Amino acid sequence: MNLLSSIDATELPVTALDGDEFWYKDAIIYQLHVKAFADSNNDGIGDFAGLTEKLGYLQDLGVTALWLLPFYPSPGRDDGYDIADYGAINPDFGTMKDFRRFIVEAKRRGLRVITELVVNHTSDQHDWFKRARRSDPKSSARNWYVWSDTDQKYAGTRIIFTDTEKSNWTWDPEAGQFYWHRFFSHQPDLNFDNPRVVSALVQVMKRWLDTGVDGFRLDAIPYLCERAGTNNENLPETHAVIRTLRAELDAYAKGKVLLAEANQWPEDVQEYFGRGDECQMAYHFPLMPRIYMAIAQEDRFPITDILRQTPDIPGNCQWALFLRNHDELTLEMVTDVERDYLWSTYANDPRARINVGIRRRLAPLMDNDRRKIELMNSLLLSFPGTPIIYYGDEIGMGDNIYLGDRNGVRTPMQWTPDRNGGFSRADPARLYAPTIMDPVYGYESVNVEAQSRSLSSLLSATKRLISVRKSTLAFGRGTMTFIRPVNRSVLAYVRQYQDEVILCVANLSRSAQATELDLS
Ligand code: NOJ
Ligand code: CA
Repeated sequence: MNLLSSIDATELPVTALDGDEFWYKDAIIYQLHVKAFADSNNDGIGDFAGLTEKLGYLQDLGVTALWLLPFYPSPGRDDGYDIADYGAINPDFGTMKDFRRFIVEAKRRGLRVITELVVNHTSDQHDWFKRARRSDPKSSARNWYVWSDTDQKYAGTRIIFTDTEKSNWTWDPEAGQFYWHRFFSHQPDLNFDNPRVVSALVQVMKRWLDTGVDGFRLDAIPYLCERAGTNNENLPETHAVIRTLRAELDAYAKGKVLLAEANQWPEDVQEYFGRGDECQMAYHFPLMPRIYMAIAQEDRFPITDILRQTPDIPGNCQWALFLRNHDELTLEMVTDVERDYLWSTYANDPRARINVGIRRRLAPLMDNDRRKIELMNSLLLSFPGTPIIYYGDEIGMGDNIYLGDRNGVRTPMQWTPDRNGGFSRADPARLYAPTIMDPVYGYESVNVEAQSRSLSSLLSATKRLISVRKSTLAFGRGTMTFIRPVNRSVLAYVRQYQDEVILCVANLSRSAQATELDLS
């Protein structure tokens, strides 16, 4: 239930009255993959009908918005971020009718829906790319992607998927040229210097706005434009494209939000808010690994230090906070020394490492220590920004580092101790991915049904934290002031919004700590 709807409107402070426009500041977002959530037709793949049946669970959990990972037709070589058709539903997940029903049911339960707008690249199976590669090099069809006769252009641009890619260029024999890609070689980058590309993506955005979605996560947003002699990230031309998308969004539908996926330092991410005229939200990538660092070192410094360096952002903007997601726990935004420390602390097994990060879920990262998991969640839900909970982390699901790529953190949701964890009645061999079956994290021990019956379960604890978060606007909108007791394993901060003042105190160490707080 939305907090605002439970309060008599006449009691609301003026800023909260127009608060609906800023719904994303008070939101609690739950991130999920349709494929992984619930399988209604028992073909081994989760679908929209299955997800719709589970909306009651999400409403009861208390989250207020859902972020759905890509659900469009795709060869599935980057879990759907390789889109072959922006305008349709992947038939494995259902039909457009199923999607519309899902939206109606989500709205009926007060849940907003954020979807993916993967603007930087398409699949090489997208019609735009097929047309481009077979067209004349000088034609406007070819010009939808970024081509070159040499793979030496734009040298000095880093490679992101260091484990799989050796170059940002791939030779296309059909086109007789190299094409540019910041991610997998099957994901050619669109050419944002071509106004037709921008208008095509605006049309895609409007198409999904028409279905009632409330916002878009803009995937891989720093890499839209390329310019010789730069590192091809965060270019002014890229920001101009985002401003266009935002202006089109606002003109077409009010109150919808853009969420920037920019894995960059705070001063660079800040640019994606623009003057409040680019994205309303952006992930705080540098904060995330420092929360893990603080817990490991039992020292608040990594957190206070990065938040001190975090610039103020425009009034209509908001940080998006997360502990884990569908990707590796990225360590790009830490120093080399910090990265080595985090790798050796949290990913001693080399199989747990991928690219510049760690492919593990929250519970295994915390060694399944309930108190640490709750501490992490309490920080997530009380820091300034909008929290995002990754599906399954509310029950402490485990992972499978023996699956390829990042698939080990994308296994089926664990509902019951029954076959396939209640995710599907299909033969286990048919599932899109094996369920977690080990004795600690397997669905027989970790599942929603069991945890719903116990008030002391992690699920119940997560629900309580969510409801505390929703009891005040201070967490989503308030200021944060640190109190700095001498004992650095104590992290103490005040969140304040209008007349409400909340003191938060976290003990980052594994043992009891004595401290004095100066509350003057
Ligand atoms: C960011 C997404 O989060 C990730 O899963 C994907 O592999 C890359 N973008 C490339 O699309
Ligand atoms: Ca299915």
